[in-house]
Amino acid sequence: MDIGIIGSGNIGSTAARHFVDAGHDVAISNSRGPGSLDALVDDLGPNARAATVEDAAAFGDVVLEAIPFAEYESLPADALANTTVISASNYYPDRDGEIDLDGLTETEAVAEHLPDARVIKAFNTMDYETLRDESRPEADPADRLVLFVAGDDALAKATVVGLIEDIGFAAVDLGRLTNGQLMEPGSRIYGEPMTLTEAESLLENLTF
Ligand SMILES: NC(=O)c1ccc[n+]([C@@H]2O[C@H](COP(=O)([O-])OP(=O)(O)OC[C@H]3O[C@@H](n4cnc5c(N)ncnc54)[C@H](OP(=O)(O)O)[C@@H]3O)[C@@H](O)[C@H]2O)c1
Repeated sequence: MDIGIIGSGNIGSTAARHFVDAGHDVAISNSRGPGSLDALVDDLGPNARAATVEDAAAFGDVVLEAIPFAEYESLPADALANTTVISASNYYPDRDGEIDLDGLTETEAVAEHLPDARVIKAFNTMDYETLRDESRPEADPADRLVLFVAGDDALAKATVVGLIEDIGFAAVDLGRLTNGQLMEPGSRIYGEPMTLTEAESLLENLTF
């Protein structure tokens, strides 16, 4: 699959590594432009290329955005139309400043900015070192660590779940995009590595 990545930092570059290793083609971008990505794409190998944000957005059947939340309104809505967009960004007011989300969850605000994209919240609950080091493609799904997903488009979500499984993690679907609030910073599952077995047990006993 062709995967565009917007944001080449901790999460963007870690996900790029996994996607390339799983046999996907990646176009990765950042705020400084493709010329700043030579070392990263050299390291990722021939299935990765450096791109502008617009080109990464246009390249991807799926596009991962992993940028500071304060920047979400810079995501190119036209280029991302009819695209499955994985939103990994988290809102930290101390880092991002006060942003009026008008009663929306973080990812609903991203989706409102990208009205013609199929936005799925995922890759936001696990810190990048765990994402980098704890891929278990050979393990039984029950023993893999979980990446949670939420979104309104069932087909897009199934695609994202497939990618998560491709790269050696398990996916747990929390339902509609509005349930993405269960994945936000400070929630019970945020930043807590857990296997699929542990996640299912937690969710059974948890009242959100
Ligand atoms: N770090 C984690 O463990 C973790 C885990 C889950 C989710 N997240 C969330 O994922 C997002 C990224 O986190 P990170 O740790 O990967 O951040 P990071 O290492 O600081 O990387 C951010 C990347 O976003 C790029 N960027 C900034 N503004 C941009 C814009 N307007 N357009 C395109 N690219 C832009 C930066 O470009 P330059 O390189 O050119 O500066 C950089 O490559 C954050 O919202 C964070 O909360 C982080």
